[in-house]
Order: sequence, then C-alpha cells, then structure tokens
Amino acid sequence: MDESLETLLTLLTAIALFSMGSAYAIYRARLLRRLPSLRWALFVMVILIVALLFANVWVSAQLMFISPYDLNLTGVLLVFAALVAIGFGFFVSRAITEAISELGGAAERIAQGRLDTRLPVEGRDELAQFARTFNAMARSLQELDAQKRQLDQQRRDLIAWASHDLRTPVTSIRAMIEALADGVVSDPASTARYARDMQSEIENLTRLIDNLLELAQLDAGHIHLDKQPTSLRDMVSDTLSGMSARAALAGIALSGAVDDSVDLISAAPDKIQRVLNNLLDNALRYTPRGGTVRIIVERDRDMAHIVVNNHAEGMEMLDVTSAFTRFYRRESSRARSDDGRRGAGLGLAIARGFVEAHGGIIEAQSSPGQGVTITVRLPIEPRERERAAS
Ligand SMILES: Nc1ncnc2c1ncn2[C@@H]1O[C@H](COP(=O)(O)OP(=O)(O)OP(=O)(O)O)[C@@H](O)[C@H]1O
Ligand SMILES: [Mg+2]
Repeated sequence: MDESLETLLTLLTAIALFSMGSAYAIYRARLLRRLPSLRWALFVMVILIVALLFANVWVSAQLMFISPYDLNLTGVLLVFAALVAIGFGFFVSRAITEAISELGGAAERIAQGRLDTRLPVEGRDELAQFARTFNAMARSLQELDAQKRQLDQQRRDLIAWASHDLRTPVTSIRAMIEALADGVVSDPASTARYARDMQSEIENLTRLIDNLLELAQLDAGHIHLDKQPTSLRDMVSDTLSGMSARAALAGIALSGAVDDSVDLISAAPDKIQRVLNNLLDNALRYTPRGGTVRIIVERDRDMAHIVVNNHAEGMEMLDVTSAFTRFYRRESSRARSDDGRRGAGLGLAIARGFVEAHGGIIEAQSSPGQGVTITVRLPIEPRERERAAS
C-alpha cells in the first residue's frame, strides 16, 4: 500500500477513535445537559461536528501534500461550509427548542387549571405525536373535571333538597305540638285532626329517611340482593290486587296482563316488589280521574319486559331526562296528595337503583298521545331459559 495512504488511514482511525471517545465521555458526563438550554446543546453539537469535519479534511489535505494554493482554497471552502452549517444548525436547533418550550408552556397552563389548553399538531414527527397525546390527555382531564363539577353540584343539590324535605314535616309537627301545648287548640275534633296530620307527617318523614338510607346503600354498593327464582306473574298480580281499591277510589281503570312465556326471574323478591309498587304508585298518583293504568309483562329472548303505562286526558307528561334524578318532581307533585303523602322525588331513583343492581334496565317514555310509559327489562331465571328453549 502507498505510504501516504497508510499514514492517512492511521491518522483518520486515530481521529475517529478520539472523536467517538470524546463524544462518549460527553454523553456519560451529561455535559450537554449542563448547558443552560437545549438550544445551546444542539448548537454546540453542530459546532463540534463541523470542527471535527474541518480537522479531518484539513489534516488529510496537508498529508496529501497539495500545493499551498490548493490548501488555502480548501481552507476557504471549509470555512465557508462551516459557517453555512453553523447557521443552519442555529435555526434547526431553534425550531426544535421552540416546539419544546411550547409544550412546556402548555403543560404549565394545564397545571394552572386552564384545561382547555391545546397544542397545534404540525407534521408527523415525535413532537407532533407528543402534541396529539398531550391534547388527548387534556381532553380527558377536561371531561373528568366537568364530571366532578357536575357531581359536586348534584351533591350540593341533594343536601339542600334532603334538608328541606326533612325540615318541612318537622316544622309542621312542631307547630301542631305548640298549638296543642299552648291550648290554642283544645276541642276534641281539632285535636283528633291534629293527631292524624302529625301521624301522616311522621309517616312522610319515616318514608323519606328510609328512602334516603336505601339510596345511600345503593350508592355504596352495599345493597344485599337475596336472589332466588321468583315468580314475576305472582308479584304483578299481588301488586295489582293491592292497588285495586286505591285505583277504584281514584276513578282510574287499572288492568294487567302477563304473557304465558314469562314467569320465573332471578331476583330479590322484596326489591322487585318495591320497584313495581313505586311504578304503580306513580301511575295512580299522577293520572287524573277517568284515566287508565295498565301493566303488561312480555318476554324478549332472555329478558322479561315490564311495561307500566298511564294515560289520561290533559295529563302532565314526564320529563324523561330528569325523571330518575333524585328529588326531581314537578312543581305540581310537591303538594300533598289526598292521602296526605308528599312525593320526595326518590321513587324512580330507587327503582332504577334496584333494577340496575339486578342487571336490568329501566327507561321512561312520555308523549301527549301515549301518556307515560316506564319499561323495566330484567334477566329471566336461567332454568326458565332452558325450559323455553327445549
Ligand atoms: N307515571 C307517571 N306519570 C306522570 N308523571 C310521573 C309518573 N311517574 C313519575 N312522574 C313524575 O316524576 C316525578 C318523580 O317521580 P318519583 O317517583 O321519582 O318521585 P315522587 O313520586 O315525586 O316521590 P316519591 O316516589 O319519592 O314519593 C314525579 O314527581 C312526577 O312529577
Ligand atoms: Mg313516586
């Protein structure tokens, strides 16, 4: 091999080893990270690369014994190339670091609670991917925050409504007791009426407290479901016979039909009985005289459908979006009904809790032509499914 070529190879190998060694040392010592900014780190890297190239070419040119004129020309060209590379490096490093500080700024705004902050997504590189992930994270945070605010509001409303509803009967009981104690009311007829009113207020209070406790248990997931094969047919007919006198008194036509394909469901009988009672209680309570209430039970594959419909001329419709919300009731439902009962707006919320605890679904529909329809879908007892299939 030519001697000058051999020298050149040795020298280049030495320079290469030295450069790699120093780059590794810089990396290990995390020297670039000690610079005041990433922009400087990138810029220093460009300068180092240029310096290395410069050294390589300059040493090789000298070893090749080119004429002083060519050497100078090479030098000028190298300086020119170096300046262009450094200028280029300056702007490239600036573009990258600007994008990174934009990310930092956005993260800071999120930390300050401005969850509507979004990053512009430009290009397809890692920074664009990061911006996409960042935006998805900000969206989830915003959704969670909205949910939390809504829950907070609901909790505040719940406390306000519950305390109002608890205070109302207590206030009227206290007023009646004061009237009796002060002798303002003393004739036997008025005393007897006060006693009846107090009894009914105490019943309202007890029912409200029981309902609130039940809802608290449902929320905590502590509801105990003693599931067993239960005859839906029997439950519906028990509920109907229990309510028939009340319907007759209210002048409402009450009827029911259970399809032959439905009988056993896997359920806690007391809870499902409660659901049926709440639905029929509502249907009778909110249907004016002369109206109709009908309960139909049908089967759709593995589910039993319980459909309760009430309908009357000029009846108030149900707001299906709020109906299952706790303490929701229409203004007209707040007044005491003939039997002295005041609706708390918990009946449908409890019904939904029990139906969902059974793996079922409860829905409401309401239109002036059709009245109000509440549909409950409950899973049929597994053995019953086999019986139907065979
Ligand atoms: N079948 C129905 N027809 C018309 N309106 C209804 C019917 N069921 C419920 N509603 C309306 O929805 C509201 C909420 O019903 P829900 O059963 O939850 O509470 P409530 O009957 O007022 O009180 P509670 O059942 O706790 O004694 C009622 O106040 C009433 O305005
Ligand atoms: Mg009710």
